Amino acid sequence: MIVVESLCADRCGTRVLADVSLAVAAGEVAVLVGPSGGGKSTLLRCLSGLEAFVSGTVAIAEHRLTPGPQPADRLERIRRDVGMVFQQFHLFPHLTAIGNVALAPRVVRGLPAEEARDRARSLLERVGLARFADAWPATLSGGQQQRVAIARALAMEPRVLLFDEPTSALDPTMAGEVLEVVAELARGGQTMVIVTHDHAFARRAATQVIEIVAGRVARRGSPGELL
Ligand SMILES: Nc1ncnc2c1ncn2[C@@H]1O[C@H](COP(=O)(O)OP(=O)(O)OP(=O)(O)O)[C@@H](O)[C@H]1O
Ligand SMILES: [Mg+2]
Repeated sequence: MIVVESLCADRCGTRVLADVSLAVAAGEVAVLVGPSGGGKSTLLRCLSGLEAFVSGTVAIAEHRLTPGPQPADRLERIRRDVGMVFQQFHLFPHLTAIGNVALAPRVVRGLPAEEARDRARSLLERVGLARFADAWPATLSGGQQQRVAIARALAMEPRVLLFDEPTSALDPTMAGEVLEVVAELARGGQTMVIVTHDHAFARRAATQVIEIVAGRVARRGSPGELL
């Protein structure tokens, strides 16, 4: 599902990813770990086409990314197949929970409003938020907002989901609720790449762990070997 070969990326004249290669099969959960500033977020953003790289290749969900900015039409196709969940949720504040989840299928996929809302409702149910469909993001806890963000990403039925520290802005109880949802997705065979410092979660859900240090793959292996 993902093959990265010899990926190099620069930021402000400094090499921040150097010769990164990795592969993630369909149904795998790859966890990225490593010290702050090592390049984990940059790598995720290169995988999703959000940021440019200078050399190497990325293939993800049958899309091929090339060095430099991705053409707009390619980016649009990638966005349909590759979902992202961020540390800071980034919900649309002017839309309710269900409005957030129904938006992309309606706008990008052209689903009729009623059908988009029905599907959004069942996704909110899946992340344990059926009661909060009509709530505004500002009235939800951080853990609830993050679960809405996950439902919103799932609404596009992505082939790959990328998570950048989805629980590091949350207290342990809320983080637990979010990780339970992610673990359930893993059991369902969703291909995911997850940046997290939560080694207990990684031991439970990861099929492979990749440690990124100073822009390079320092170690790679099973959670049992690495953590
Ligand atoms: N837009 C940018 N401009 C300049 N430097 C950047 C930019 N984005 C990232 N960097 C640099 O690239 C390196 C990798 O950063 P990145 O955010 O990918 O690390 P990280 O592993 O995600 O760290 P953390 O665990 O703290 O989130 C760092 O040295 C960072 O300062
Ligand atoms: Mg980061």
